[in-house]
Amino acid sequence: MKLSVYPNYRSLSENASDEIIRLVRNRPNATICLASGDTPRLCYQLMVEKATAAKIDFSAISFVGLDEWVGISPENEGSCYFFLENLVLRHLNFSRPNIHLFDGLSDDPARECRKMDEFLHDKGGVDLMIVGVGMNGHIGFNEPGVSFNNYSHLVELDHMTASVGQKYFKEATILKQGITLGLKHLSEATKVLMLANGIKKALVIKKVLEEEISDQMPASIVRTHPNSEVMLDEEAASMLNSRT
Ligand code: F6R
Repeated sequence: MKLSVYPNYRSLSENASDEIIRLVRNRPNATICLASGDTPRLCYQLMVEKATAAKIDFSAISFVGLDEWVGISPENEGSCYFFLENLVLRHLNFSRPNIHLFDGLSDDPARECRKMDEFLHDKGGVDLMIVGVGMNGHIGFNEPGVSFNNYSHLVELDHMTASVGQKYFKEATILKQGITLGLKHLSEATKVLMLANGIKKALVIKKVLEEEISDQMPASIVRTHPNSEVMLDEEAASMLNSRT
């Protein structure tokens, strides 16, 4: 695992967006998996700007969403679908059949998981995964206590995830379950970028990077990945004892 600390959120986002662009240029048929959430918002905006200016071709890229709230429609602005569609997908020339997002309204979440796992298995896994970190140390909806060996699965959301998640919705929303890629997908990804910014992430980042690697802090799994990079701004890095 490599740790990179950037002076601010913008430079972190610039560098993360460059990683996506570089991969798409070098491997036009790569599989990328992007988290939703506040952390990668600027990264995706910059990536879309750069890709549009340089006319980068996404038509053979496979796109995988990291997770989704169960029971939330794609038209709801708090859904991961809505976020990715509006910030990323509709701006670039993805081929629609290459886009794979969990359907939060599916009456058979187990089938959603199977479909995703089969697709990723056939593709040979994810080439680049961009993830954020929850306030409880989750990645995707891999909540504290999750197995590091899971592929896609249905999750009972942690209390903190259900309450912090309200920030994405216009009105109070009952959030009980999620569907997520598993940490095994992350372990098997060719490259993982984990992004965190802001003072509110400083304590969880300290725990993720400096306490023991444990299922109680799922994001600590990035330390076991041979090709992961944790990209922080100064604020998120401010409680770390060491930056190496
Ligand atoms: C979203 C996701 C979540 C978020 C995490 C951080 O698809 O997978 O794990 O990455 O909750 O959220 P933000 O970036 O809003 O702080």
